[in-house]
Amino acid sequence: MTAARPVIIAGNWKMHTTPADAGELATTIARRVGEVDVVRVICPPFVCLAAVGDALAGTGVAVGAQNVHHELAGAYTGEVSAPMLVSLASWVILGHSERRRDAGETDELIGRKLGRAIEVGLRPILCVGEQLAERDAGQAPNVVQAQLHGALEGRDAGALLDAGLVIAYEPVWAIGTGRNAQGSDAAGMADTIRTVLASIGFGERSEEVPILYGGSVTAANIPEFLAEPSIDGALVGGASLKPDEMAGIVGRAGVTARARRQAGALGAPSGS
Ligand code: PGA
Repeated sequence: MTAARPVIIAGNWKMHTTPADAGELATTIARRVGEVDVVRVICPPFVCLAAVGDALAGTGVAVGAQNVHHELAGAYTGEVSAPMLVSLASWVILGHSERRRDAGETDELIGRKLGRAIEVGLRPILCVGEQLAERDAGQAPNVVQAQLHGALEGRDAGALLDAGLVIAYEPVWAIGTGRNAQGSDAAGMADTIRTVLASIGFGERSEEVPILYGGSVTAANIPEFLAEPSIDGALVGGASLKPDEMAGIVGRAGVTARARRQAGALGAPSGS
């Protein structure tokens, strides 16, 4: 049996806040999410990383970026590389569906970003998820499988595990729509994800990879996801800008983290 996976709540602030107000918001949220049993991460825009980092110093809440370039340096106007981020962030979100949509990011490119992130020691959250039409066509597992193959196949699974790879399953139709997936659907996809990981070099250690759900997560619906043993937390968008919501989400995650740890200590079957 592998050690219990951590429970992780990451907030994705997307293109919200400015350097003038981000620090105050981060401070307010950090005061409300004091659950040491939960891995907590806030991912502000690049230009707010420094302010948020200062605000979160000593709080136990980590800082993440929302993207990184696939090269270490060079003639790439307006881009931000992994070495630029290491002193400002310890995590990075990769392959978010909004970047796949707006910046044309492909699985192959996302895989290269992943390589750069782990080269410098950033902990990656790799986002995958299907469009509504793909779900309606019964293709969701195939789409996610292809995304994982495209980004991860041929990469050193041991290095990705050492870097603490996290996968976020974010069905595109659930992002920012107020229409969340069902817990059981997300759990089914988490099983698919771990099966794919096992088949591309992770083997049994695919069980060590935390899988988050993302898409209209709120304090009201987080229990449904955390009730699923294969789901290890959430990537939260809109609600991550609201201190009350984050307090509720992280508070619930703390209950789950302690219950899972206790179940593990009692020798209950993994995942119960
Ligand atoms: P949402 O965004 O919670 O606002 O749906 C989630 C995400 O995009 O990561």
